[in-house]
Amino acid sequence: MPDSAADLFLPAGAASAQRCAACGAITSELSGDAECTACGGLFEIVHATPDAHGAALLALFGLRCGMKPGSEPSGVWRYKELVMPSAADPVSHPEGNTPLLGRASVRTFARSASLLLKHEGHNPTGSFKDRGMTVAVTQAKRIGARAVACASTGNTSASLAAYAAHAGIPALVFVPRGQIAIGKLAQSIAYGARTLLVDGDFDDCLRLAREASRELGVYLVNSINPWRVEGQKTILFEMLQQLGYDAPDWIALPAGNLGNTSAFGKALREAFALGLIAKMPRLLAVQAAGAAPFARSFAAHFATHEPVLADTLATAIKIGDPASWDRAVRAITETNGVVTSATDDEILEAKAVIDASGVGCEPASAASVAGVRQLRERGIIGEHERVVAVLTGHVLKDPGIIQRYHQETEPPPARANRPIEISATVAEVERVLSLP
Ligand code: F0G
Repeated sequence: MPDSAADLFLPAGAASAQRCAACGAITSELSGDAECTACGGLFEIVHATPDAHGAALLALFGLRCGMKPGSEPSGVWRYKELVMPSAADPVSHPEGNTPLLGRASVRTFARSASLLLKHEGHNPTGSFKDRGMTVAVTQAKRIGARAVACASTGNTSASLAAYAAHAGIPALVFVPRGQIAIGKLAQSIAYGARTLLVDGDFDDCLRLAREASRELGVYLVNSINPWRVEGQKTILFEMLQQLGYDAPDWIALPAGNLGNTSAFGKALREAFALGLIAKMPRLLAVQAAGAAPFARSFAAHFATHEPVLADTLATAIKIGDPASWDRAVRAITETNGVVTSATDDEILEAKAVIDASGVGCEPASAASVAGVRQLRERGIIGEHERVVAVLTGHVLKDPGIIQRYHQETEPPPARANRPIEISATVAEVERVLSLP
C-alpha cells in the first residue's frame, strides 16, 4: 500500500522535519540528534506539501532544467560554430559544463582575493582532454579512421580510450612505462584501449606514435591534431560565458606539451575578433621547474628553443620537448602573457591547499595556482586584478602522490594530514578529537 499524501508530507506552513520511522515523533529539522530521543528509532525526513501540484510542479522543474528540448547538453558542442560547424553526429559524452569555483583558503594562499578556479577535472574522464577528444574522435569517425592513436602522460590516453570506445573505433595508446599515474593507466585499460607501455619517456612515445601513424595509417589525436585544439578552446568560451563575457585580467594554466596554451591563444584571438570580449586577458603558462624549456625560452624573449630531459613529480607535464611550441609562443606574445615555472615543492604545497579546500586536483593542475601565488609575490599580478586559474585534472587521477605526501614523507610536510591508527575504543576517538 502506498503511503497517503497526509503521511508523506507535513501540513502546509512547516518546512521540513525529522520524523521517527518507529514511533512517528516529530523532531525539528535543525536537531542534531542521531536517533529519536523518545524511542531510539531512526529518522526519516518529511517536507511541507509543495505549493504547486501535478503539471504546475512539473513545469517548475522544467523551467529550472538545463536540458530542455533544443538545448545542447555538451559544453563543447554548444560552441559548435567555433569548433566544427559541419559536425553532424558528434561523439559526445557529453562533456564540459565545468564549474568556476571560489574558495577562501585558496585565495588567501595565492594572495589573490578574487581568484576563481575553472575545474576541468569535472569532465567525464576527469580532465580537460575530453573537450578536445570529443572533436578529434568525431573527426576520426567521419573520415572513417581504422584506428586512433596517441602518446600520453596519462590523461589524453584515458580520454581517447573512453571516446574511442563510445565511437567503436580501436584505440592504441603509447605511454611511458612506470611514469604515469595509476588512476590514468587504470582508465585506459578499463575503457578497452590497447595500452602500450613504452620503454622511454613521453617525448619518445610521441615520436613513436607519430611514426606509427604515418606508416600504419592510424589517425593521430595528440594535441598537434588541430581538431583537439578546437575543442579545448571551449574551456575559454565557457569560462567567458560564466563571467558574462567580462573577461578576467589573467588566466593561468599548467603547461606541458603546450597544446592548451595554444588553444587558449586561438580562443582569445577569436573571441576578441568576434567582439565577445572587449579586452584581452593575459595568459600565464606555468611549467614544472624540472620540465621548463618553454619558461626558460620566455626568459630569453623566445630567442632560444632547447629541449630538456624532463624530471618532475607532476607526471602530466613531464615533457622536455613540447610539440606545440610555435603556436604557444604566438599565444603568449599576443596576450602579453607570461611563462614561469614552479618547483615540485611549490606545486605540491598548492595542491595540498586546493585539496584541503575540498576542491582537489591532480599535481600538474596545481601548477596554475602555484604560478599565480608566485606572480602575486613578484608584483606582476596586481592585488586587485581578476584571475582565473584552470585546474586541469581530478584529484583521484594520482592517488599515489597523495599517499606519498600525507602518509610517507619524513619529516611530514607542513600541510600533511597523517591518517591516525586507533584501537576500537571511544576513549581513542576522544583523544583524536581533542588533538590540536
Ligand atoms: N594538466 C594536465 C592534468 C595534463 O594532463 C596536461 C597534459 C597538462 C596540464 C598540460 O597540457 O600538454 O596541453 O600543455 N597532458 C598530456 C597527456 C600531455 O598526455 O595527457 P598541455
